[in-house]
Amino acid sequence: MNRAEFLRIMGAGAAAAAMSNFTSVSQAMESLQQKKKQNNGLIEELSSTLESQEAVVDKPITAIVIGAGARGRTYASYSEHFSKSLKIVGVADINKERKLHLKNKYNLSDEHCFNDWSEVFSIPKFADAVIIATPDNLHYHPCLKALEAGYDVLLEKPVAQSVKECTDILKYAKKYNRIVGICHVLRYAPYFMAMKKVLDAGMIGDIVSIQHMECIRFHHMAHSYVRGNWKSARETTPIVIAKSCHDMDMMRWLVNKPCKSLSSYGGLTLFKRENAPAGSTERCLDCAVEAECPYSAKRIYLKDRRYLYVFDIPDNERNDKKYASLIMDKLRTTDYGRCVFRCNNDQCDHFVTSMEFEGNITGAFSMEAFTATGGRLTCIMGTKGWLKGDMKKFEVTDFLTNKHSVWNQDISSLPGYEGHAGGDFGIVKDFVLAVANQDASYLTSSIDLSIESHVMGFEAEHSRVLKKRIEL
Ligand SMILES: NC(=O)c1ccc[n+]([C@@H]2O[C@H](COP(=O)([O-])OP(=O)(O)OC[C@H]3O[C@@H](n4cnc5c(N)ncnc54)[C@H](O)[C@@H]3O)[C@@H](O)[C@H]2O)c1
Repeated sequence: MNRAEFLRIMGAGAAAAAMSNFTSVSQAMESLQQKKKQNNGLIEELSSTLESQEAVVDKPITAIVIGAGARGRTYASYSEHFSKSLKIVGVADINKERKLHLKNKYNLSDEHCFNDWSEVFSIPKFADAVIIATPDNLHYHPCLKALEAGYDVLLEKPVAQSVKECTDILKYAKKYNRIVGICHVLRYAPYFMAMKKVLDAGMIGDIVSIQHMECIRFHHMAHSYVRGNWKSARETTPIVIAKSCHDMDMMRWLVNKPCKSLSSYGGLTLFKRENAPAGSTERCLDCAVEAECPYSAKRIYLKDRRYLYVFDIPDNERNDKKYASLIMDKLRTTDYGRCVFRCNNDQCDHFVTSMEFEGNITGAFSMEAFTATGGRLTCIMGTKGWLKGDMKKFEVTDFLTNKHSVWNQDISSLPGYEGHAGGDFGIVKDFVLAVANQDASYLTSSIDLSIESHVMGFEAEHSRVLKKRIEL
């Protein structure tokens, strides 16, 4: 780079400002070049190195799956790819077919296959760890029992249904000196891991503010939070915990400072009985206006063949015509066939929170049901640059050099990469390492490190309901 180039890149004003700390143009140019090299190096390195998902350990750790539904099966399937890291040795599920499925898949003995979760703890400890992937209202008691019995725990989010229950789990983990890994899986996705490294390296200077938007996607909202398992905030947790605890956690983690206060707004606007179109009926199969409804169950499950794992239809067979009658039957008999305007649901379909983190860092979070694509959009404003990303790639712009650096690594070669952008297997890897080495610091989402963001979520809901700013 010559002097003219330096001045062109910097612009006259910026060059003068940059020069003020240096005794000569050449010294300033050298410093700029060094900075560019450093920053280029980091993004290039992060974009070119794809860490293996394999946990290298002396012998596989053993685990029992409690709740053999979608999440339990996902974590268990890690052992199929990395049999030297993890071995599944037991299962508990009140759904007999799911229990049997795992029994056969992992060749489990009869005495280690249970119905209710509590039965696991009726016999002496027979594994290193338990994976708790039961519904939200069945995390707390199984987790306490597992810790008492001496198991390390991989615990699905949400940790529990109240701040008190979350802190009880933390206390038990300390009391029994056990590892509890919380499935804040996004922390283990290569995309967010790279973003965190870029921020920690100071590539955008000091963080001044963060904007983070969770796009749920209109049919996902209808499936999970209107018709499905999480439609009732009371029976599960409010959506800002049930869905967005990942995002509260991500904001807290990226900013790396505690949240001091917050204020929320939001509500349920669309999915209510009073908005049911004329001519609509209790179930989509009988509905005269179903063809005009983007949320039609016929459209989502039968035509587009989405979310069929809830009917235990294997993902690789979901387009098979042979399942049409099974799907029709489910739409006639389960909540997945109900009209979205008549589901007795209460979760918000839009939710925003403004936050103030320590150091006067501001945060804006937005959870939106009415989006065409899913995923997260993040913008982080720093004193020396900004970062913006869409979960596929992120771009960093350096204010001084106007250089854009892009992380856009292809992760499709990773086994299980579809699950939360690689985070599902990423967390199992670190959990295995933590258990094998009896060292919770392998996990970035141990209970100690991730409980704070759950408190943020619970308080965000209080703020919305009470319509007031909350100090944390
Ligand atoms: N980390 C994430 O990103 C993520 C994503 C989706 C869901 N989740 C959470 O994971 C958990 C499980 O969700 P899922 O989608 O796998 O649900 P699911 O309904 O597919 O699975 C839950 C399983 O638990 C079983 N179960 C219910 N009661 C039981 C009992 N008493 N004893 C033993 N088993 C019992 C059910 O039969 C079912 O098979 C939920 O808490 C959910 O919020 C986390």
